[in-house]
Order: sequence, then structure tokens, then C-alpha cells
Amino acid sequence: MAAISVEPCTFALFGALGDLALRKLFPALYQLDRANLLHPDTRLLALAREVGSAQEHLDSIEAHLRRHVPEADIEPAALGRFLARLNYQHLDFLQPEGYQALAEQLPGELPLIAYFATAAAVYGAICENLDKVGLAARTRVVLEKPIGHDLESSRRVNDAVARFFPESRVYRIDHYLGKETVQNLIALRFANSLFETQWNQNSISHVEITVAEKVGIEGRWGYFDKAGQLRDMIQNHLLQLLCLIAMDPPSELSADAIRDEKVKVLKALAPITGDGLSTSVVRGQYIAGYSEGKPVPGYLEEDNANAQSDTETFVALRADIRNWRWSGVPFYLRTGKRMPQKLSQIVIHFKETPHYIFAPEQRLQIGNKLIIRLQPDEGISLRVMTKEQGLDKGMQLRSGPLQLNFSDAWRSARIPDAYERLLLEVMRGNQNLFVRKDEIEYAWKWCDQLIAGWRNAGDAPKPYAAGSWGPMSSIALITRDGRAWYGDI
Ligand code: BG6
Repeated sequence: MAAISVEPCTFALFGALGDLALRKLFPALYQLDRANLLHPDTRLLALAREVGSAQEHLDSIEAHLRRHVPEADIEPAALGRFLARLNYQHLDFLQPEGYQALAEQLPGELPLIAYFATAAAVYGAICENLDKVGLAARTRVVLEKPIGHDLESSRRVNDAVARFFPESRVYRIDHYLGKETVQNLIALRFANSLFETQWNQNSISHVEITVAEKVGIEGRWGYFDKAGQLRDMIQNHLLQLLCLIAMDPPSELSADAIRDEKVKVLKALAPITGDGLSTSVVRGQYIAGYSEGKPVPGYLEEDNANAQSDTETFVALRADIRNWRWSGVPFYLRTGKRMPQKLSQIVIHFKETPHYIFAPEQRLQIGNKLIIRLQPDEGISLRVMTKEQGLDKGMQLRSGPLQLNFSDAWRSARIPDAYERLLLEVMRGNQNLFVRKDEIEYAWKWCDQLIAGWRNAGDAPKPYAAGSWGPMSSIALITRDGRAWYGDI
């Protein structure tokens, strides 16, 4: 049995035949089972609106599982155990009638975990129906993003859930918080005094957060076009990363202590308005270009696209945090679809030494950088200056890495998918890695003013070729401050 103890539960997945469930959630549950992290009495219940035979749906779940779990990880014994825990039940989420049958299926007093992999518009109705059949009192609800598309709509969703569930039993997913390196960021910052003493405007000049994806929009055009990259990625994943970098040390490792500190950061974010809309933010939309050497269509030419859309597929911006720790330290955020590579990384740039004594032409290389790589090749590397070796090199400087590569350092350990960690933590009743209502709301408030500014200015996205690092103006955004995006090639 694994070192972590996990209580038994019934795990009910609403929207069990949807893309997220088939691609991410069932594979994550299988991996937990394989690692002996599901209690023997835990039951899994797939709930979906699709009629038809339960066995057919279970077969389809198994087929997807085999496709999305690496072949080497499919172990007959583990798979058999996993499938034996799994049942399918047809349920129309909006109709109270089916919930009675659901309640009858659920044994004894085991906690129920209700994971909503459905549209947020039905969260309230599911909660109400669970309550009607007396299940709410023993249920934890897990809410997938997006929770609304602005502050007002997110409040509506959160309030509908809050009528039946206290905040202590609501788990809002931001899957970036489940990524191994993101958790390591907390360890790095708060278990090493080496960094914490330098973690402020005295020592850090600026911070970059890049989340680049190689893929375009493909089959998701309908959803994505209503959201855009700011709502889809910045409002949640990038602002969460920014909070973890910028927050003060919490007084303890409890969910609320961490979330209180993150909220302070969100409240301190300077709104981007007025001139800032043209100098501190860039919206882009990809046009046709190349990905891995092959021609790919532009955003407006994807299947089912509306050729007039002005939705952004790229955002770069400069965020400023108004407090003592970060005054004068810009956070440059950048995220886009159809970039040259899939890359999520945070780069902390430390200031130059106060007095420079080496050859002037080497000056540009100077400055330590802490690079926190989320994907691919998860790891942390600290770039330090040393001297080139050799008699003929004089005092020629070299920037090289002190490196901790997670998969090399612990070769035998598989890096778990973010969802494995998050599902495990819900089962353990630990809210540390989940987003509190006020965090979502402050993040929306900040994004809403930016979106309103774009709308009022009639700002159209700037084109960039698929396979490039975004519009030229995103390079100008940072070079204007005398800096460059780290490592762009
Ligand atoms: C999701 C977004 O939240 O994150 C997607 O809705 C995006 O548009 C995805 O592709 C990226 O996640 P990851 O883990 O692949 O970086």
C-alpha cells in the first residue's frame, strides 16, 4: 500500500463521456489506482446524458483509456481492478427524477465526490438536485473551469453552488496548480532561505511567465471563440503562476493561509487602462503559417470558423504589482496558440551586480536567472556567471546552468499528470491546490477592466504567422523596457 492514506469514497463523474473525462480524468483515476492510491472500497460512477447500453459506454471509456495511457502503463491486473470499480449510469443532469436512482446506488455514508466536467451553466442545477435527494451533506463538489466568462457570470455560478455547499466543500480546478513543478515552486520558495531573502525588488529586476502552445484551436473553435486567450489562459493559469511567484510566505501550509496570500497579490495588481492598453498589452491572432515544417491554416480558416472573428489567440502583457516587495518589478506574461513549441516556463531575472568590473562587451550576459520549467522537461535551473576555462580565455565570462532536472534527478519516478495530483487531493479533502471563490473573482475583475478597455478602444488583434512567437509588437512590449524575452529563437 502507498505511504499516503486515502479514505474510501464514491467518485461520481458528471459528463463522463466528454473530452476532458475521456482524455484526462479516467486516465488520471487509472494511474491513481495503479499506484495503489485508491482505497479498495472506492467506487467510480460515470454519469452522462447519453442513453444506450451501459456496457457500450463502459467499453468506450476503456477504449479511450487504452489510447490515452502510455502502453507500458497498462497493466492487466490494475486495469481489471479499475474497471471492476467502474459503473455507468444515464442521468439527465437537469431533471430531479434521475437523482433518486443515483442516491439509491450510493452505499452507506461514504463521502461522495461529484466532479462536474460539464458546462458551468448546469452546476447550480446539479447541486440543487443532489440536495433534494439528501446527498449534499456528504458531498464535495469539484468545479472545472471556465467558471463564467466575467465577474458577474462567475458570481452567478459560484452563488448557485454556494446555496447548497459551503466553501470548505467546493474544489475549483486550475490544473496548472497540480503540475509537479508548480508545487516545487512552493518548496523552492519557502523551504530555502537562500531565495526568499532575495525575492523582492532589491534583487529581482523582472519576471517572465510564458505559456506557449504549439497546437491551434482545431475542434474547439466554437468554445474558444467566445473566450479568447485572455479568458482561457491568463485569467486562470498565468495569474495563478504569478500569484505563487509574488505572494508573501504564508504562516502555515494550510489552504486558507496560501489562498489569503494569493488574494493579496490579485488585489495589488495595477489595472491596465488608458495609455497602458497600447503600451502594456498586445493581442494577437494567428494567420496561416508553418508548424513542424508543415503548412497550417490561420485561426479564421479553421473548421467552423467565423471569418470575421476578432478573438485573440495570443496575449502578451506587462503586469505591475503595487506593493513594497514588487514595486518597479514588471511581470511580463505571454501566452499563445500556434507558437513554435510547447513551453511553459517562468524566468526570474535578478539584478546586475551594483558595480561592474568586467569587459563592457560582456555586460549583456550579466544577471542571474532562475528558470522554472513546467513543461516539457520539468525542472529548475539557476544560471550563474563563471569564467571560461583555459589559459587563453583571460577573464572571459560564461553564463551556465546549475541545474535540477526532475526526471533525471529521480529517474525512476514518473512525473504524474496534474489531474492525478488534483483528484488525489480532493479524495484527501485537501484544498491547498484549489482556487477559492474570491481568487476567481479578483482575477475576473482585473481581466474584465482590460477586456472593457479593448472593447472601448475597438482594438483589433495583431496578426502573427502560425509557428512564430507572436506579433512583432509583443517583442516591442519588452524591448521598450530594455529587455528581451528569454531564450526566443
Ligand atoms: C486549458 C485551456 O485550460 O489549458 C486550453 O482551456 C489549453 O486552451 C490548456 O490548451 C493547456 O494546458 P496544458 O496543461 O497542456 O498546458
